[in-house]
Amino acid sequence: PLRVAVLISGSGSNLQALIDAVEGRQLPGVEIVLVISNKASAQGLQRALKHKLPAAYIPWKKREEAEQQILSLLQLFRADLIVLAGWMRILSAEFTSQFPQRMINLHPALLPDDSGDTYTTSDGSVIPALRGLHVIERAIEAGLKVTGSTVHYVIPAVDAGPVIGRAEVAIEPGDTPDTLQEKLKSQEHRLIVEAVRAYAEQVHLVAPAQ
Ligand code: GAR
Repeated sequence: PLRVAVLISGSGSNLQALIDAVEGRQLPGVEIVLVISNKASAQGLQRALKHKLPAAYIPWKKREEAEQQILSLLQLFRADLIVLAGWMRILSAEFTSQFPQRMINLHPALLPDDSGDTYTTSDGSVIPALRGLHVIERAIEAGLKVTGSTVHYVIPAVDAGPVIGRAEVAIEPGDTPDTLQEKLKSQEHRLIVEAVRAYAEQVHLVAPAQ
């Protein structure tokens, strides 16, 4: 099977979507083997434990130390694919470069195929490609009518890398960061499962299950 590690920092609703998909046999050949949080209080850790998944809290005081601990765990649990699902810390280039094509990130804004600063929505409007923190608030403040979420491969540059999938979400008058986050998450739960499924199928094409 494809051995997946999920890195989280908070509520872990996307982790839950993955757990539900695995348990519901919607992700054949996929196993979640490890959950890591940089926050001890992350609700996602409780979700992992409830489903009897190995779960670790790695404090993020010194980045090098935390990354070394994460690396050791990923090796110990023989993770094939690392999913950043609501992971709120920037990983160093030294770290991410050890997992070429093996780490994917979920980002709550629309990112283009290239490293450009704009994204063209399905209705043809050109909007800023929002990278970094607080992108939900920034989308509202910028007066955007459309935002969305993107799943992409992780490369050393932050919130960049080949795109696996996207979902667009309309910003309606009266939307607040909270209401918009809810709308984004409900799309993300489908998006992240589809991305892992696509990844698993692609890996199987290259290396058939034994
Ligand atoms: C998701 O909306 C995800 O896109 C975002 O955090 C949320 C986590 O929700 N990720 C980032 O902002 C990454 N910088 P969850 O903990 O309920 O899955």
